[in-house]
Amino acid sequence: RALIVDFGSQVTQLIARRLREAGVYCEIHPFNKVDGAFLGAFAPKAIILSGGPSSVKIEASPKADTAVYNYGVPILGICYGEQTICAQLGGDVERSDHREFGRAHIEVVKPSALFDGVWARGERHQVWMSHGDRVNAIPEGFEVIAKSDGTPFAAIADEARKIYGVQFHPEVVHTPDGAKLLANFVQKIAGLSGDWTMAAFREEAIEQIRKQVGDARVICGLSGGVDSSVAAVLIHEAIGEQLTCVFVDTGLMRAGEGEEVVRLFRDSYNIPLIHVEAEELFLGKLSGVDDPEKKRKIIGGLFIDVFEKEAGKIENAEFLAQGTLYPDVIESVSFDGGPSVTIKSHHNVGGLPERMNLKLVEPLRELFKDEVRALGRELGLPDHFVGRHPFPGPGLAIRIPGEVTKEKADILRKADAIYLDEIRKAGLYDAIWQAFAVLLPVRTVGVMGDERTYDHVLALRAVTSTDGMTADYYPFPHDFLGKCATRIINEVRGVNRVVYDVTSKPPGTIEWE
Ligand code: XMP
Repeated sequence: RALIVDFGSQVTQLIARRLREAGVYCEIHPFNKVDGAFLGAFAPKAIILSGGPSSVKIEASPKADTAVYNYGVPILGICYGEQTICAQLGGDVERSDHREFGRAHIEVVKPSALFDGVWARGERHQVWMSHGDRVNAIPEGFEVIAKSDGTPFAAIADEARKIYGVQFHPEVVHTPDGAKLLANFVQKIAGLSGDWTMAAFREEAIEQIRKQVGDARVICGLSGGVDSSVAAVLIHEAIGEQLTCVFVDTGLMRAGEGEEVVRLFRDSYNIPLIHVEAEELFLGKLSGVDDPEKKRKIIGGLFIDVFEKEAGKIENAEFLAQGTLYPDVIESVSFDGGPSVTIKSHHNVGGLPERMNLKLVEPLRELFKDEVRALGRELGLPDHFVGRHPFPGPGLAIRIPGEVTKEKADILRKADAIYLDEIRKAGLYDAIWQAFAVLLPVRTVGVMGDERTYDHVLALRAVTSTDGMTADYYPFPHDFLGKCATRIINEVRGVNRVVYDVTSKPPGTIEWE
């Protein structure tokens, strides 16, 4: 396996994804955790030093432990990673007036194992740069293998020691051949076999769950989403009837989604399932509340209460299963140390295991979202189910600004279903990270069949994103939006105007509350 030493780049996770796509298992760990003892235990076959926001010209700049250089496996430094290699091994880095951000072209000046079969000498290739400092002199034993106008040391190599550095970012899609270079590094240079697949992961995960759980009972809270469902099916495959699932139906799900979960688990997989129909309870407690944070807190708190009560009926339960994903687990490297602001309090079951005195089973904690989807397919879950867009825990409540009522939730469910139906028919569903409708607490005047109407405004939203942290609105053709608006207004009583949200994140957030 490979080790990615994180210096805090925004795109470190992409390095891991590219390696896994090349069939190589890898993990990301913060630079200050990786020392000799860590390396001994982790036993990586290849090490990548990520980019990062710091400057090696600063006294206290983050450095790789010297054990990394002495460990003896191939090393690739990316951007800041290259700079710290140079600074630590006897080269020199300078602050440059010529900062490079964005698309750049480099010229290959020397063949290298890193470029083998991808780039040849003399060729020019597009890469993505993002750096202020630049390497000024390279350490002994290194040679320049590619340069650009602004960066004489765009890629360097010590082929004997198998240490490489690139100033550009091979992990981003704007470096079109980047994935191949990374594959070269882990497969050809470090000799990793590239046979890590979902089928192999499934077998290993099942073994591990059996070992961890023994003959104890496990409870799994299903949210209706992909992650908890895949976790549950995997655990069921490992320990069968020792697993009981609890699905709290808040009445704030999309049209048909609650029913589908119940059907899937009970009928297709025969997994023991407690289905708690709690719509009245949730809507009752939400009545009269219009503050977004209060709504979130009420839903989160109620969910835990209901779940706890139901789970308490399951005797001898020792474990709680959760669909925690890798991005939630990676410890981020923080330099300013300042407190981060809470934009939204996310609803999840955090705190539940301690309260209920349960141990955790988290079989997906090493996977990215797209890998969870692949695992779901591997386990036989239907394509349209594993491909579902993310859906927030508080559900439709945060897509109804103002007070939530059953009537509004029903209007929203209908409109949302039409919008998604049109998106699927247009073949756009998989190109979009999330698409949904929002029912606004605003009524406007309209005219339908010579009658005056005074009804709700519905906002449509669709965004592209890779991780939900940043997002761009989806540029639907106007006639597509027009068609959705017509269908919604014709088919859904209570809506007489439709608008499209063209805000990216930041400054907006994906959800409206
Ligand atoms: P925002 O609205 O903060 O959302 O841009 C980013 C991503 O997180 C989802 N989201 C949630 N997911 N519980 C969740 O599990 C929540 O309380 C929650 N709030 C927002 C949102 O749908 C988007 O994918």
